[in-house]
Amino acid sequence: MGKLAITGGKPVRKEPFSPWPLYTQQEARGLQKVLASRNWGGYPFPNKIAHAFAQKFARFHGAKYGLAVANGTVAIEIALAAAGIKAGDEVIVPAYTWEGTVGPILFLNAVPVFVDIDPTTYCLDAKLLEKALTLKTRAILPVHLAMCFADLDEIGRLARAHNLRVIEDCAHAHGGKWRRKGAGATGDMGCFSFQSSKLMTAGEGGAVITSNLEFYERAQSFMNCGRASMTDRYKHRLIGYNYRMTELQAVILEAQLGRLPKQAKVRQANMDHLEARLRGAPGLGFLERDRRNTRVAAYQYVFKYSPEHFGGIPRAAFLGALQMEGIPCDGLFYEPVYKSALFPVDPRDWPALSWGRAEPLDMKNLYHCPVSERAAYEESVWLPHHIFLGSRQDADDIADAVLKVLEHSEELRGLKHPAIDVKGMSRAERPRVEKRQW
Ligand SMILES: Cc1ncc(COP(=O)(O)O)c(C=O)c1O
Repeated sequence: MGKLAITGGKPVRKEPFSPWPLYTQQEARGLQKVLASRNWGGYPFPNKIAHAFAQKFARFHGAKYGLAVANGTVAIEIALAAAGIKAGDEVIVPAYTWEGTVGPILFLNAVPVFVDIDPTTYCLDAKLLEKALTLKTRAILPVHLAMCFADLDEIGRLARAHNLRVIEDCAHAHGGKWRRKGAGATGDMGCFSFQSSKLMTAGEGGAVITSNLEFYERAQSFMNCGRASMTDRYKHRLIGYNYRMTELQAVILEAQLGRLPKQAKVRQANMDHLEARLRGAPGLGFLERDRRNTRVAAYQYVFKYSPEHFGGIPRAAFLGALQMEGIPCDGLFYEPVYKSALFPVDPRDWPALSWGRAEPLDMKNLYHCPVSERAAYEESVWLPHHIFLGSRQDADDIADAVLKVLEHSEELRGLKHPAIDVKGMSRAERPRVEKRQW
């Protein structure tokens, strides 16, 4: 029997952390009201609560217009379509992100171009963009994650120089700010997700924000079966989908938005406390806080574990042990999309991958993004935001658990344990074994 819980010792933490999602009577009353109104859906578009929420959400982030949509994946598709991305166009994306950032590019028969991430932020490395540009590049799709922002200054400079659209994937960045401007409001459009794990949620849901009326009109048509937009100044006509949000979701999100700033402060204070306690621990690394990121959105607290420092003890063992100490955690949160089982791209399905080429683009083997691969398979540690919604003691428990596992890491050498197996599983495999995956 060892000291670590995974080898039979006493866990640091037995009590659960704050549940997620949180709700109050406000959501319950709102839902009751919508139920009683019998006006549940998004039609006629835009329905009242969804529209009011979307406008409020957009203004909260400093944009003029907002659309409440079905989820974050379609928010990205809508934004790409609204930006006029056409078959064969190239869209630059970070390799290290959720597959849902990339799928919508292919669904428009456009071509994703993967660029590696910056090791100091885990977001798109703007220094590598220039090399990825071709005559077909039409847009850059940065993803703000790990409490960081992609360098929107540099991305914007390049976009202006090459007449490219910038669509920000803000699925992790509700309430975050870059140079005092809200997430999604610096680029041409911003896309958000309200899926269950996110900083605001209605179970599912998404939003697109923009300050450009033409994009807003096109987005409205695209998500509302091609119907004319409310203002219809630009008279765009296109084939669309029904990607509308229900009033039931919107009424929940209205309540969640009101709560976001206060929750953000609590999380931030607890994450800062955790980081202050972990800094200096040998074998750990930390992402950098950019001063231009004037308000942090803390969807997950992310730090780096260095297997080399622990004589090759893999991250999965560290995470399995941490989980057994009572701390929810993840490592294979994202993979470089081109390597992911959730990206089984076959060029026969996506004709643009073959256009103008002797051989179709082999998306699975074309890329090697070393920083993304290291983050994904070796070093990144992701802690979910809800465990930071409690007291400072909670943050101390997290720190104690991490430090304990590091101190007794030799107990993990060669250890086999189901908790370690789960931490080595990809997001494609895990739903088979996890009780809850948000
Ligand atoms: C970075 C990123 N982009 C896009 C999405 C897609 O959002 P959704 O799951 O709401 O479709 C997610 C969320 O899961 C995400 O984390």
